[in-house]
Amino acid sequence: MTLVFAHRGASGNHPENSLSAISAALDVDVDGIELDVQSCRDDYAIIHDTWLDRTTNGRGMVRHASREELNALNAGNGEGIPTLQDVFNLIGTNTTINLELKHTYCLDKFVQYIEKNVNAGIVERSQIILSSFDHHQLVWLKQKLPWVKIGTLTASIPLNYAEFAQQLHAYSIHMDKNFINHEFVLDAKQRGLNVYAYTVDKQKDIELVLDMGVDGIFSNYPCHAKMAINKLSETKGA
Ligand code: G3P
Ligand code: CA
Repeated sequence: MTLVFAHRGASGNHPENSLSAISAALDVDVDGIELDVQSCRDDYAIIHDTWLDRTTNGRGMVRHASREELNALNAGNGEGIPTLQDVFNLIGTNTTINLELKHTYCLDKFVQYIEKNVNAGIVERSQIILSSFDHHQLVWLKQKLPWVKIGTLTASIPLNYAEFAQQLHAYSIHMDKNFINHEFVLDAKQRGLNVYAYTVDKQKDIELVLDMGVDGIFSNYPCHAKMAINKLSETKGA
């Protein structure tokens, strides 16, 4: 069955990357939750943009603010910006956690943060997928955490199809839905890689990427996406 990842949590109906969006995703039993990670002054914050303006009532750059300042902002429905620790505490061992590194610095500290949570039993190794458009960062992370699942992000169809991800010892390729074709998916599968498509909300798009043979989708509306996928597989089985 095609997996459904809640994109920025269940962000279609809740503030993106918020604790309520994560809770809503857990409520519908998603296969995973995708969240964006940015470095702030003294922690790792869960927010997509480098600037606060679009999603909060704050101004300025995320990296100039402290954890406390970020938490005091309104990032939608009166919720503050969560830290990575808030996310680990809320999700626990319940589902896959895909952390997309955006502008994330001090990666040594980031690795320690993950290890601390794994060692404390708050989350399990098998749950974590680290993804990034910065493939250099991914190589470095895989060297530091050989056990971690690497998700290579791309919004292109490279000349050598999925070869780049195999070189990275990746677990999955996370592809913009507009750059997926049959050849790419076939090549990825032959290399033992999973292909997950983002961001897939509309019925027609769900049908198209499923037809391409993807293993999973990222959706802002995970409840609807799950229902649509179930229905499609029933129809096919009938
Ligand atoms: O991780 C998939 C997708 O979230 C990448 O794009 O801009 O939504 O973070 P963006
Ligand atoms: Ca993302």
